[in-house]
Amino acid sequence: MTLVIVVGTQWGDEGKGRIVDLLAAQADVVARYNGGDNAGHTVTVGSQTFKLHLLPAGMIHPHTFGVLGNGMVVNPVSLLKEMEMLRAYGIVVDPERLMISYAAHLITPGHKALDAAQERARGAGQIGTTGRGIGPAYTDKAARRGLRLQDMLDPAAFREKMRAHIREANVQLHTFYRAEPLEIEANAAEFEGYAVELKPYIGDPGAKISEALAAGRSVLAEGAQGTLLDLDHGTYPFVTSSNPTAPGALTGLGLGMQAQAARVVGVTKSFQTRVGAGPFPTEVHDQAAERLRGTGANPWDEFGTTTGRPRRVGWLDGVLLRYAVRINGLTELVVTKLDVLSGLATIPICTAYRSQGRQLRDLPLGPSDLSPFEPICEELPGWQEDLTGARTWADLPVNARGYLEKIAEISGVKVSLVSVGPERDQIVKCEA
Ligand code: GDP
Ligand code: IMO
Ligand code: MG
Repeated sequence: MTLVIVVGTQWGDEGKGRIVDLLAAQADVVARYNGGDNAGHTVTVGSQTFKLHLLPAGMIHPHTFGVLGNGMVVNPVSLLKEMEMLRAYGIVVDPERLMISYAAHLITPGHKALDAAQERARGAGQIGTTGRGIGPAYTDKAARRGLRLQDMLDPAAFREKMRAHIREANVQLHTFYRAEPLEIEANAAEFEGYAVELKPYIGDPGAKISEALAAGRSVLAEGAQGTLLDLDHGTYPFVTSSNPTAPGALTGLGLGMQAQAARVVGVTKSFQTRVGAGPFPTEVHDQAAERLRGTGANPWDEFGTTTGRPRRVGWLDGVLLRYAVRINGLTELVVTKLDVLSGLATIPICTAYRSQGRQLRDLPLGPSDLSPFEPICEELPGWQEDLTGARTWADLPVNARGYLEKIAEISGVKVSLVSVGPERDQIVKCEA
């Protein structure tokens, strides 16, 4: 029985999709457990690049069974489009290899309109959401008035529930935000059609995954977003509305404590990025930022997969990384994009924070308020060599190895894999 959980240790976009694709070669079931189409997970296989927002990145491997867990919020428009996109590549997407939890919640045009209206109302205090309706959908879930996949099992009754939902969204849009109302009948009819299409996929993945684990099969749980965007443990309020952290895999898939994870893999970019607002102690600007972000000429340059927004960039923050190790119970780190750091004379890495003349290795009150802290950085020597052809530890320049050893030392966790490019084979296994 093997459960492997993959989580981002930062603010998302660490390269989780690329690593999930790699690990899925050994997985039977691949499962997303949180978030919705705010995620953008990129997988590159030869000349093909897949950008997945809802379906598990491990589904590119034809032998896997895919799951969308109860912790997710699902926009049926995006889901059906993504299913078609994979089919166009010859990948089978049918009820024989995909199950969506009956308890996952739906995202509707009402949620998207509310997301936009709420962001406008926040003015200067905007979160910088992806605009996908994520917050409003989870709000409805917590308020116990959400629409679930289970409601789609009776499409005609669901149409009536959609009418009531859009009516309610219109009241909120008008009363609080003076926003335009949405069409009730057209939306209800459209969503009834989606119910008919999605009905064959609705099931109980918790039961299926438990059975798979008991039968000795391996399950790969794919987190979306990252530790610092977690609703409870992230840089609140500049977070998403779900639990991307590893324990979220159990609640978000319907698994009990007996499903102990054999590996909890923390995907860590070799520097740090963030889309949207919120604290970022090691952020850099101007030329240094352009160097880390790139210009957009390379597909991996730091522009959002979902929104195309330029990502904020900075140096690796060891204090926040240690926090991610603790909150997730990480057993290992996978470091991505080490190739991007080639050519720098020195590489700063934050090892501690300074506050009122004191040095702190760890956060006294979690990451919500980082304003009292100034990062203390060590300057490590860089390397000039191109890393994209490296396949073994010995292939890495001595300074690149030194940088990885520093990451392991700061975090207290081994680095098991190092990614040196977006392709499947651009990976260095760090043998113990
Ligand atoms: P995710 O949201 O964590 O799955 O990450 P994204 O897909 O949003 O962003 C990661 C980007 O970096 C994608 O364009 C990947 O193809 C690319 N990428 C992943 N690992 C590497 C790597 O080691 N080197 C380079 N150059 N690009 C990478
Ligand atoms: P992946 O899975 C990076 C960010 C948004 C915003 C905040 C809240 O590709 O790593 P939301 O739309 O969720 O209410 O926005 O969270 N955000 C992400 N940033 N990668 C993601 O997903 C993200 N999903 C949400 O930019 O700051
Ligand atoms: Mg992404």
